[in-house]
Amino acid sequence: MANALSEIQQAILTGNLDDVAGLPVPESYRGVTVHAEDVEMFEGLPSKDKDPRKSLHLDDVPVPELGPGEALVAVMASAINYNTVWTSIFEPLPTFKFLQRYGRLSPLAKRHDLPYHVVGSDLSGVVLRTGPGVHRWQPGQEVVAHCLNVELEAPDGHNDTMLDSEQRIWGFETNFGGLAEVALVKANQLMPKPAHLTWEEAACPGLVNSTAYRQLVSRNGADMKQGDVVLIWGASGGLGSYATQFALNGGAIPVCVVSSPEKAEICRRMGAELVIDRTAEGYRFWKDENTQDPKEWQRFGAKIRELTGGDDPDIVFEHPGRETFGASVFAARKGGTIVTCASTSGYLHQFDNRYLWMNLKRIIGSHFANYRESWEANRLIARGHIHPTLSRTYGLADTGQAAYDVHRNTHQGKVGVRCLAPEDGLGVRDGELRERHLDRINTFRGV
Ligand SMILES: NC(=O)c1ccc[n+]([C@@H]2O[C@H](COP(=O)([O-])OP(=O)(O)OC[C@H]3O[C@@H](n4cnc5c(N)ncnc54)[C@H](OP(=O)(O)O)[C@@H]3O)[C@@H](O)[C@H]2O)c1
Repeated sequence: MANALSEIQQAILTGNLDDVAGLPVPESYRGVTVHAEDVEMFEGLPSKDKDPRKSLHLDDVPVPELGPGEALVAVMASAINYNTVWTSIFEPLPTFKFLQRYGRLSPLAKRHDLPYHVVGSDLSGVVLRTGPGVHRWQPGQEVVAHCLNVELEAPDGHNDTMLDSEQRIWGFETNFGGLAEVALVKANQLMPKPAHLTWEEAACPGLVNSTAYRQLVSRNGADMKQGDVVLIWGASGGLGSYATQFALNGGAIPVCVVSSPEKAEICRRMGAELVIDRTAEGYRFWKDENTQDPKEWQRFGAKIRELTGGDDPDIVFEHPGRETFGASVFAARKGGTIVTCASTSGYLHQFDNRYLWMNLKRIIGSHFANYRESWEANRLIARGHIHPTLSRTYGLADTGQAAYDVHRNTHQGKVGVRCLAPEDGLGVRDGELRERHLDRINTFRGV
């Protein structure tokens, strides 16, 4: 580690945060990258055989120049999101295309267009420096960052910043992401680090927690209310583990779908009572690549009714996409909502539109979250109403393995990555609040 970085790390670890402003900014740092020269390395392989361990590198890269409205952050911990899996397997597009497009926007944005891409869309850490025009944040503050990167020069995004014509996901569609020792963010991505959490716990909710909040709770998403039956796909996964908590915290009734008894047990430990093991039930929604089987939709719907005592889902929390979307549209109640933010199994969805229009159902598209929604989602974590779902952590050099676990769906909840944090368990400032919620914070640990 560069000298300047180890001084910064020491100041943070010893709690001398006031010193950070006076320490020199390092010239370079280690970050997890993909390389432009590698984008064809997996040509011809099926997605599942594309191995992030081969494409993710740990490189020494220069610290980027700090622009107006931006902040440099010393990153203590980060986490794996599925977008890092997409980046590492160069699907559906190599992310260099996003960086090139961003680079055409302005001389400042041009900094992002490089032959390497430092990935990662979550962080917890300490503000190192802020650029001109930043007044709310100072060096030495402990922060987490959400991943919405907007320019807001056009009118489009001024009611809801997700609608900005230059809306990007930091660390996926921009460079200098969080799987690194230093990251560059816009200052309006910063939020206070929850004081009762360790660095790795605080980093892991970021992207998925904000996404699930908008998708399920916000008026921009499904606008969930007390008593709603919410069908949650992948309920112990990244998004689903937060959706399940939001449903329970908001007085709704989650019906959790998972693929193993271990995952079913985790849902029960979160407090969910209604759980479907899709593997044990053996659903085959597709007879072949082009034909779905409505009888299987019916069998799935009957199982939901059996669990709920006859109710169909008011809301279906969708993200598996092609594999499940026909079943989701079928299963939603009359007047119900299918809210989707992804298509893990394929983006060309098929569903029987008769079930949609005759039953006045709605499909809502949702994507990440605006600053306000992210802030509210983070506040629920900070107050101990929603908890991190961290199952295990890796060191920065093993990020490839961490992404591989998520790609192979062998993980639970969130997989964390230590960046400048030398070990797990550091960074707790409010031991009393932590003690009150320790069981919930550790629900996913080591499973
Ligand atoms: N638009 C956005 O802002 C946004 C934000 C976050 C994530 N995403 C996307 O959302 C997707 C999920 O992200 P995540 O972080 O929750 O990933 P994750 O941790 O891998 O969890 C997804 C879960 O979905 C379930 N699943 C996967 N394939 C399935 C299939 N074919 N049928 C039924 N269930 C399936 C699996 O659970 P079981 O095996 O237990 O059923 C898996 O654990 C990814 O595609 C990601 O890129 C989008």
